[in-house]
Amino acid sequence: MDQIIIEGGVPLHGDLVISGSKNAVLPLIIAGLLSDRKLTLRGTPRLADTQTLADMLYTLGAEVEEFGRGPGEGLSVTAADLSSTRAPYALVSKMRASFWVIGPLLARAHEAQVSLPGGCAIGTRPVDLYLKGLAAMGADIKVEGGYVNATAKGGLRGARIELPFVSVGVTHVLMMAATLAKGQTIITNAASEPEVVDVGRCLQAMGARIDGLGTRVVTITGRDRLDGADYTVSRDRIEAGAYALAVAATGGDATLTGIDENVLGALVPAMRLAGVDFCTEGNANEPVLRVIGPRGRPHATCVTTEPYPGFATDLQAPFMGLMCCADGVSRVRETIFENRFMHVQELTRLGANISLLGDTALITGVPELLGAPVMATDLRASVTLVIAGLMARGTTRISRVYHLARGYERLEEKLSACGARIWREAS
Ligand code: EPU
Repeated sequence: MDQIIIEGGVPLHGDLVISGSKNAVLPLIIAGLLSDRKLTLRGTPRLADTQTLADMLYTLGAEVEEFGRGPGEGLSVTAADLSSTRAPYALVSKMRASFWVIGPLLARAHEAQVSLPGGCAIGTRPVDLYLKGLAAMGADIKVEGGYVNATAKGGLRGARIELPFVSVGVTHVLMMAATLAKGQTIITNAASEPEVVDVGRCLQAMGARIDGLGTRVVTITGRDRLDGADYTVSRDRIEAGAYALAVAATGGDATLTGIDENVLGALVPAMRLAGVDFCTEGNANEPVLRVIGPRGRPHATCVTTEPYPGFATDLQAPFMGLMCCADGVSRVRETIFENRFMHVQELTRLGANISLLGDTALITGVPELLGAPVMATDLRASVTLVIAGLMARGTTRISRVYHLARGYERLEEKLSACGARIWREAS
């Protein structure tokens, strides 16, 4: 298994080109199941998760093909015929988002047998809201032997669905399912995350009728069939946020190409409070955000995770990385997932002073971190350890870095180009 080695203490300078969004491309690939025509997705990142999903689509009789290299690269999804409606445990347990095939399968084939995803490192993550939403659209749902067996004889029908709280995945799935349902579906308390907007826009390009994208009420009027489309995926705001934090944490000055400040939501104001400066450069086609690290230690800053445009839970751990060396005590509260603090013990190994009380972490900033061997526990925890390693004096060795390949394309290459001393070694 590979390890990532970092010799810390080098401020990042240069340009980081942000890749296509992982959390948009996964549901976009799944959206390809809704049509018998080809869906072309451009600007897609090459990640372990997209490959896992391609394997899943293959078992359903669809093809996912990568094409090109560089800016024009992408992938196509062709689901001319669905030869199976069964999503097996071996694949769903590898990546939870593959559970989302349940929406398109039910909508198009009127049946689905999808494994329950099983355990997760960051919380219990039940699927009750998916099942309630699909049942409201007329699906008959039974959970048996670890599988959700769902049928919708005669097809799904539109419904009014009020979500008790915001869920990104439930919004994706119900929105996709509703595009082929009979009549109108209204989802209230829908997620307004940029990834949901991306999926909605792609569905519109496929001929779906959707209103209210980016708001809390999304209305979908079903159609008999959807067409193919050629769609460019948005850049990854979570990757961009992690790199912005890495630049700030090392006291660097670097640009993020392809990302607009607005999609970062509450991260930018929080980082400004911490003493980080931002300048918008570039143009509307290719926005560029310059990040200028604080002079000296960052100021202690408190954040609470919330649905978009609030502070993203996927940036909670990386933000805590920055706060480890802040001047003062900061408080980070996690309200989306109940167990998303696995990085805390590893940061402590680097000398951070963090105490946990329920859903809140109190971080007493220390003047510096010291390199040590640490272990990655999940995707966002892994990048946090990279940020902490870049800040730390001495050498940090991160093991179990296979998590990183799930969400950060060419991470070592991108950071090295900005001066970081970071490389991968087989152990
Ligand atoms: N929830 C339920 N019941 C459900 C569905 C969700 O209780 O039926 C709960 C979850 O347990 C959680 C809350 O609702 O407490 C919100 O979770 P949500 O459904 O929004 O999360 P998700 O759709 O499973 C996506 C991202 C996550 C990201 C969250 C929140 C993808 C592939 N995953 O997950 O990304 O943290 O939204 O923004 O898009 C990551 O990329 O590392 C990651 C975990």
